[in-house]
Amino acid sequence: MAQLGGSTVFLPANEAGLGTRETIPDFARTLCQYCDAIVLRTFAHSTVETFAEHATVPIINGLTDYLHPCQALADFQTILEHFGTVAGKRVVFIGDANNVSRSLAHACILAGSTLVLACPKDYAFTDADIAAFGEHWGRSVIQVHDPAAAVAGADVLYTDVWTSMGQEAEKAVRLKAFQGYQINERLLALAPKAKVMHCLPAHRGEEITDGAVECAQSIIFDQAENRLHAQKAVLRVLMCADGPALLASMRK
Ligand code: NVA
Repeated sequence: MAQLGGSTVFLPANEAGLGTRETIPDFARTLCQYCDAIVLRTFAHSTVETFAEHATVPIINGLTDYLHPCQALADFQTILEHFGTVAGKRVVFIGDANNVSRSLAHACILAGSTLVLACPKDYAFTDADIAAFGEHWGRSVIQVHDPAAAVAGADVLYTDVWTSMGQEAEKAVRLKAFQGYQINERLLALAPKAKVMHCLPAHRGEEITDGAVECAQSIIFDQAENRLHAQKAVLRVLMCADGPALLASMRK
């Protein structure tokens, strides 16, 4: 917002009291009187949905336990920068069906590329996810359980923490379940042309090794930079009068 000439107010969760001190609808209706757009970085996805239902300004999902669309936009900006195109790319996500991989799957569908999720059997996409992917399931969203087989032909190897928000109590079980689902030198050797991506923060030594973060194939810090630029694009499209026209022209 600062780079675009605007200003921001940050409300930390413990001070806002969203849904505790004040109901979500009342909070949304009040805050919309003061702001031109609101980014919610929260836990339950239903919070964002309820907030948006009662809002009169754009509501941006800055992260929920279900989706991370801003991350996926920055990811695809990064893929575009490095490959010159997004269509037809094969993005292999080593990890679980979580907020990041779910949004990546949706982005892959929109971009005409493929998301291959390599996950342990108990950490797969749910029936609701599969229903949401519709006809794309099994075609542009694929699920496998063997990471070594999954990386063949990958353009991107992507991973995220094994324990996401709200799953902290499962940490020990997850650490065990995800052994073998790590981006490391052995896996990179099977996909020497693939770029390495991670939404950060990385737990080095768990889902990714130091060597994989730092190797020549890694574009992780270009990806991190693009969180800034992609999110400016979101604000530009949502907040400027010519936003819808701009979006339509980019789709052409
Ligand atoms: N899957 C991670 C993403 C962090 C940006 C989490 O939910 O904690």
